[in-house]
Amino acid sequence: MSAPADNGVGTGVRAPKRARIAERTLRTDRWWLQPLLTVLGLSAFIIYATVRSFVRTAYWVPDYHYLTPFYSPCLSTSCVEGSSHFGHWFGDLPGFIPLGFVVLPFLLGFRLTCYYYRKAYYRSVWFSPPACAVAEPHAKYTGETRLPLIIQNVHRYFFYVALVVSLINTYDAITAFHGKTGGFGFGLGNVILLANVVLLWAYTLSCHSCRHVTGGRLKHFSKHPVRYWIWTQVTKLNTRHMTLAWTTLGTLVLTDFYVMLVASGAIADLRFVN
Ligand code: FES
Repeated sequence: MSAPADNGVGTGVRAPKRARIAERTLRTDRWWLQPLLTVLGLSAFIIYATVRSFVRTAYWVPDYHYLTPFYSPCLSTSCVEGSSHFGHWFGDLPGFIPLGFVVLPFLLGFRLTCYYYRKAYYRSVWFSPPACAVAEPHAKYTGETRLPLIIQNVHRYFFYVALVVSLINTYDAITAFHGKTGGFGFGLGNVILLANVVLLWAYTLSCHSCRHVTGGRLKHFSKHPVRYWIWTQVTKLNTRHMTLAWTTLGTLVLTDFYVMLVASGAIADLRFVN
């Protein structure tokens, strides 16, 4: 693969003082595999989540009060009866607006501006750069200092919204301990909803912004033992942020898919306590 044309005014590997190498990379391994898998994984999730967010079917199981996270909170009179845990804030919505529209843009923003996902799509989609020791095709590099990428700095605000959404998902998971004839009930759907919400909390709390909120700007950890302890716990989670980013994409899809199967009648929920 050849390097892009060198006009002598580039940055990075094309900066004036860098060695002139005609090849874009001298790597002979399959360096392109990881960016390719990343783009395939992210694309699969985006397509699935988009389709499911718009179809408006099989998102609520009235017998057991299972609600898929893609429709939570459901705040419109278009939502099926029982699925609006927080009331109806809006009237009927036209079909081109997803019923979970109140939080979906924030969740998308939270993921899109996440430090891990930035790395993933900068490498896989914008090739900036695609891998270590592989030159990027762009002649200039301005990083996140200009529009549109400077908008990435709003990530810390999305983090606060994500905390609220995690609380809402927790409420949904607790509400779902519901028996077919009322009272307490417990089935495989509860295990899936609960696992999803625990992992969503782990992903949210492992956020780099959370690490900054808990321990940032402190000059002396010894004077703030509680914040220091919280910061060390968040830091431990933070080392698994990439894993949690991918795992929660998987659990979101699994949770939605399971709710869809039960809600549509394709399968029956495996009940442990009815
Ligand atoms: Fe990934 Fe904040 S850095 S969610």
